Amino acid sequence: MLFDGALRARAPLRFLCDLALQRFNNEFVYAESEAETAIVAELSLVIHNVLQGHRSGDELFMRSLCVFAMYRPLHRQTGIESLLTEIPCAEITGQMLRRTVVDVLEETRLRSSIRRIGRITDAVSQRVRAQYEENPYPRWIAFDRDVKVSVSDWIRSELPGLSLPMADSTTMNVVAGCGTGVEAVSLAAKVAGIRITAVDLSLSSIAYAKRKANELGLGNIQFVQADILELGELQERFDAVLCVGVLHHLREPQAGLRALVPLVHPGGLLKIGLYSERARSAVNAARKIIGERRMGGHGALNPNNPARVARCHPEFTLGRPASVARFFYHEWVPRPPLSRPGTPVHACADF
Ligand SMILES: C[S@@+](CC[C@H](N)C(=O)[O-])C[C@H]1O[C@@H](n2cnc3c(N)ncnc32)[C@H](O)[C@@H]1O
Repeated sequence: MLFDGALRARAPLRFLCDLALQRFNNEFVYAESEAETAIVAELSLVIHNVLQGHRSGDELFMRSLCVFAMYRPLHRQTGIESLLTEIPCAEITGQMLRRTVVDVLEETRLRSSIRRIGRITDAVSQRVRAQYEENPYPRWIAFDRDVKVSVSDWIRSELPGLSLPMADSTTMNVVAGCGTGVEAVSLAAKVAGIRITAVDLSLSSIAYAKRKANELGLGNIQFVQADILELGELQERFDAVLCVGVLHHLREPQAGLRALVPLVHPGGLLKIGLYSERARSAVNAARKIIGERRMGGHGALNPNNPARVARCHPEFTLGRPASVARFFYHEWVPRPPLSRPGTPVHACADF
């Protein structure tokens, strides 16, 4: 599509949009040849000129824009906002432009509205924050809209067989290391009377979560940027503290646990989710291959950054066991299921 103008002109526009969305959701973790890089630079110039000329472009232009969006973040293209007032082929291209430009600009706007508690001084926390500022995770699109449940039903589903005296009135919860908010948002939508404080190091992740919460009209989540290690500064105490996929990031995970325990009311709940060796076997297999092939020997090819390795070594995932390939291309499957024709595939990679 990049090299073949005729193919670009006849491919279904919706397909181009879906491909652009797919690559955006994967943060462009794909191999790119020098020839592609050169043509993408040319395309960028063409797009720049059209946008500077205050022309909104025609369908052919939108096709080139979609192809460009398969390679680069559209919101960084100077003048792209001018296209948003009058979107050519809006019914087809609207969703792609909304997700890749409007939503990203909204997230940038929301960053300044997020409350901050304490300071992020721990060296490991600073590095983890930098990683998730650049790559908020997961880039979720949708979640299962279950029927509304009471607090006690929710607890029963979390802890089947355990009878706990939970009141069905309001419940205060904290989601520590909320990331992009999929758990906080789905609970806020599902559990009647729940109020949530969602905390993370990464403003990009929280802004993503806040945008999703706003879209769904959820007013029962308070978002906070903080280090779990500094949560002693929170005045509130909670009925439940949820912390999934987070503590392994800390230099001393037990210190994180120690910081969370005092936040729970006596008799309250603490939910900790940790990565298991078995579930992460694909990650370890990928790391092993990187080590064996000495892909991690220089600079960008760092075994701790398999995304870069995948980008630099397109052959890496080919012919590998499915579990290793899955590690690079985890699919986040929206409703309705993928099998329905025309359903866009949204994916994200878990490192
Ligand atoms: C793998 S993501 C999981 C996100 C979310 N819990 C989920 O399950 O979707 C890990 C998140 O933990 C956050 N995190 C790591 N260390 C943290 C710390 N010390 N304080 C607060 N958040 C932290 C990261 O910023 C990141 O967003």
